[in-house]
Amino acid sequence: RSKVTLATLRKLYKRGEPITVMTAHDFPTGTLVDKAGIDMTLVGDSLAMVALGYTSTSEITLDEMLHHCRAVARGTRSGFLVADMPFGTYETSPDQAVNNAVRIIKEGKAEAVKLEGGKEMAPTIARLTQVGIPVLGHIGLTPQRQASLGGFKVQGKTVAKAKAMIEDAIALQQAGCYAVVLEAVPEPVATHITNVLSIPTIGIGAGAGCSGQVLVQQDMLGLYGRVPKFCKTYRSLADEIVMALREYSSDVKTGAFPAEEHCYPMPQEELNRFMR
Ligand code: KIV
Ligand code: NA
Repeated sequence: RSKVTLATLRKLYKRGEPITVMTAHDFPTGTLVDKAGIDMTLVGDSLAMVALGYTSTSEITLDEMLHHCRAVARGTRSGFLVADMPFGTYETSPDQAVNNAVRIIKEGKAEAVKLEGGKEMAPTIARLTQVGIPVLGHIGLTPQRQASLGGFKVQGKTVAKAKAMIEDAIALQQAGCYAVVLEAVPEPVATHITNVLSIPTIGIGAGAGCSGQVLVQQDMLGLYGRVPKFCKTYRSLADEIVMALREYSSDVKTGAFPAEEHCYPMPQEELNRFMR
């Protein structure tokens, strides 16, 4: 499969083919996403929770993100690689955002960055895109702001809030975003935003009207505890893994493992001498 670029994503969008996006947080999870032919690999800061055990995404540092991003990059051949800018690394000023986005591109080996926020982030997004850093927007439920949102809740449920969200989406497009993530947004609102914009929308809990979809890999594989309503669990791998680990434990305790086929033999002559 050939390398997915911004031009590829544009082509998919133009012909109405849904864009697939999946998170990854290390070399194996990145390799698997790439192998599956997913269009865009996202090193989401959700890894703070699903890979590092933090209680929120806002705790992760830039250095931690860079460490994970590099690992995903080493496993990514064809997918378009985008990484989240952690909370606190882009809000102060466009300069701060450029400095830290440059690190994500240079040290993290990502091709684009994602940041959360609406029209208030437009000047920052404009600066990033002007210096050649592609930006993926993210509105609706923005987990880095969960405290001020009052938790993980659907956004844009009233006409006033939906209208504000539409304005935010348009501002992100005008600032130069190549696509916008819509998280936990009522389907009619997400579909409307998709129709209004001329860049792709990537939905998560935003219905089938979006130009593409994204899920968190641990969630869809059943590897992480609490799964949100909008997530489809394609496999229950945690159960599989625990079963395998229990079998291993029991095999070791009973002596069933390791068996002869798992052991290295010694040349017979050497063995005879060794046993003498
Ligand atoms: O961090 C993440 O994984 C994300 C996606 C859910 C969009 O931001
Ligand atoms: Na994120």
